[in-house]
Amino acid sequence: MKVLVTGGLGFIGSHTVVALLEHGYDVVVIDNLYNSKEVVKDRIKEITHKDFKTVIADVQNEVELEKIFKEDKIDAIIHFAGYKAVGESVSKPVEYYENNLDSTFALLKMMKKYGTKNFVFSSSATVYGEPKRVPMYEIDPVTEATSPYGETKVMIERILKDVAKVNPDYNIALLRYFNPIGAHKSGLLGEDPNGIPNNLLPYIAKVATGQLKEVSVFGNDYDTPDGTGVRDYIHVVDLAKGHVLALKKLETKPGLCIYNLGTGKGTSVLEMIHYYEEACGHKIPYVIKERRAGDIATSYANCDKAKEELGFTCDYSVLDACKDGYHFQVEEEKRKAEGK
Ligand code: WQD
Repeated sequence: MKVLVTGGLGFIGSHTVVALLEHGYDVVVIDNLYNSKEVVKDRIKEITHKDFKTVIADVQNEVELEKIFKEDKIDAIIHFAGYKAVGESVSKPVEYYENNLDSTFALLKMMKKYGTKNFVFSSSATVYGEPKRVPMYEIDPVTEATSPYGETKVMIERILKDVAKVNPDYNIALLRYFNPIGAHKSGLLGEDPNGIPNNLLPYIAKVATGQLKEVSVFGNDYDTPDGTGVRDYIHVVDLAKGHVLALKKLETKPGLCIYNLGTGKGTSVLEMIHYYEEACGHKIPYVIKERRAGDIATSYANCDKAKEELGFTCDYSVLDACKDGYHFQVEEEKRKAEGK
C-alpha cells in the first residue's frame, strides 16, 4: 500500500513515516520545508534502513502534486502539511486560511482525478474550542475554535464530512491530537521549532539546555489542582502508531470516522516542569506570569473510541516523553554545534 504523507519531514509527520515504513507501507513524502529540514529524510532512512521518495514542494502546487499521482498509484493520503502556530494565526489569518485550506483542496482534487479513496487528516483537540465537558468525547460539539489556526481545523473537518457524504466509497479518518510531545528514542527525530517556541515542551527543552533563561508559566489561577493549565500530553511515537492503526481501520471501509488521540490523562504545567527536572537531572527555573490570551484551563481526551475501534493504547508515559525530548534536544544541539 502506497501512502502519500504531506508534511512528512515535520515533527509528527517524520515519526509517522518511520512507523509506516516499519509496518511495511510504501511512502511518498511531500514537504516544502517551511517548518522542517531536508536532513530529516536521511535520519528516517538511518532509523528504518528503508528508502522512500521525497518531493520538496508545496502541496498547494498542483503541478508538482499531480506529478506524484502520475508517477505513483497513491492508495492513501495522510495530510499533516499546514501552518500550526496558534499565536501567529491570530496575526496572519488570511495566510493560515489560504495555506491550510488550499492544500486540502489540492489533495481532494487529486483524489477525485486519480481514484485515491483513503484520507487521514491531522486534526486537533482545538476543534472543541472551550470544551462543554472534560474529558472531551468525539460526539461533543465542534464549536468555534479559539484561533484562526483552530478554525482551519474546524473548517477542514467540515469540508471532509461534506465530501464523505457525496463520496460513499471514500474512507476518511479525522484524528484529533491533543498535545504531542517527546521524540524518537534514537535522538534523531524530535521537535525543534525555529526561533522562540510557542509550545510548552520545546520551551522547557531550551531552558533545560541553557538556551533560554526560564519558563514563563502562563497563569496559576486556573480552576485546576495547582492553578496551572492542564493538558493531555501524548508521546509522538504513540501518536504515530495511531496513524498506522487509523490506516488499517480505513481498509475496512468505514466511511468517515473521528478519533481522539491522547492519553486520557491531564498534566499541569508545574507537574510537567517537575517531570522534566526528573528527566534532565537538574532544576528548571520558572516564573509565574499572566494567563496567555485564548488559553483554556483544562483539556484532556476520552480515548475509549480509539481503543475500542482502533485498538489504540499508549505505550509511553509523560516522563518517557520528557526523557526522549531532552535526549533529542541535547543531540540536536551537538549536531548544530558541529554544523550538521
Ligand atoms: C500548553 C500549556 C499554556 C507555553 C496548542 C494548540 C494545539 C497544538 C499544540 C499544534 C497551556 C502553558 C505554554 C509556555 C506555559 N497545536 N504554557 N508557558 O496551547 O495546549 O495547544 O499547541 O500542534 O492544537 O492548540 O499547547 O504547549 O502552547 O500550552 O505556561 O511558555 O502550557 O498556558 O496551559 P496548547 P501549549
